[in-house]
Amino acid sequence: MNDKVIVNEVGLRDGLQNQPRHVSVEGKLEMLDSLIAAGVRSVEVTSFVSPKAVPQMADATELYGRLPSDKGVTYEALVPNEKGYERAVAAGAKTIALVLASTQMMNEKNIGMSLERATEVNIAVIKRAKTEGIKPRSYISTAVGCPYEGNVAPEVIFNLAAQLFEAGAEEVAVADTIGSGDPAQVRFIFETLANRYGAERLAAHFHDTRGLALANTWAALECGVRKFDTSIGGLGGCPFAPGATGNVATEDVVHMVERCGFRTGIEIAGLRKAVAVAEKYTEQILGGRVLSWIESQEKRNHAKASAAAE
Ligand code: COA
Ligand code: ZN
Repeated sequence: MNDKVIVNEVGLRDGLQNQPRHVSVEGKLEMLDSLIAAGVRSVEVTSFVSPKAVPQMADATELYGRLPSDKGVTYEALVPNEKGYERAVAAGAKTIALVLASTQMMNEKNIGMSLERATEVNIAVIKRAKTEGIKPRSYISTAVGCPYEGNVAPEVIFNLAAQLFEAGAEEVAVADTIGSGDPAQVRFIFETLANRYGAERLAAHFHDTRGLALANTWAALECGVRKFDTSIGGLGGCPFAPGATGNVATEDVVHMVERCGFRTGIEIAGLRKAVAVAEKYTEQILGGRVLSWIESQEKRNHAKASAAAE
């Protein structure tokens, strides 16, 4: 069994893109430092999208230019189109993540393109990236449900994945953008894709809207997937996907998989500090389920120790 799990932190992108309080470059760098200190080594830092569409990511070029380069961290940037790709590469990105939604409406709302056009653009950018030495990843978003069109047939996902891999995508991340999927659906999708392309070329991205993100993570893990997008403190939500809540919390995924014998290289104590930093900048109470459990244990232990000392 491959016991190494890559936790790809997306809090700085998926987490912050929807925040009413915009976080400065300094704040983002402090969040990043705290994540790196906790052991995180794979980070989706930002997106090179229209600043009109997502003002929270308007500082992408500056942020990219200030990323710590000596910590062995793999950084990636989300890009929606050719222009985003060019901006990302000019800023120094070596890995880019394209985004292709599974439905007409979601592509139109998210990136102003039809499904057909978005597929063409994704394929063209993947091919270009390959010739320019840039690693292309691809997201298939709203893969288990669309806020505008409802259920999505798995065949749609298989068809898009085939086109993306055929174009040269090094990895396809299947994203449950609105957190509507269940473990049975997740298992079917990942089992099929893993059989066709190998689990090592897949990644999973879950939101916890209905409390199923950890169960979905486990289902994908059982299909051999070892790379998961997570967000510190469960930050997240897409401005173009109404009703979606945050991503599965990094600390909850780390806790679950480490407990089950997998290795992430990430320390929960460090993630706790990272949650505190994210709370400071977003002015929100954050934290996955495991943190409240840890805190309640500490309070109990403290109360016991005080009683024993009396
Ligand atoms: N970065 C910055 N600006 C961009 C851009 C990019 N990647 N792509 C296009 N633009 C600019 C164009 O140059 C143009 O600028 P102008 O008004 O100064 O001439 C303007 O945006 C409109 O361009 P157009 O091609 O007509 O795009 P649009 O208005 O249909 O927007 C996107 C398309 C993709 C740029 C926009 O929908 C977007 O940024 N979406 C991102 C959504 C997102 O981040 N979702 C969450 C993550 S999945
Ligand atoms: Zn997401």
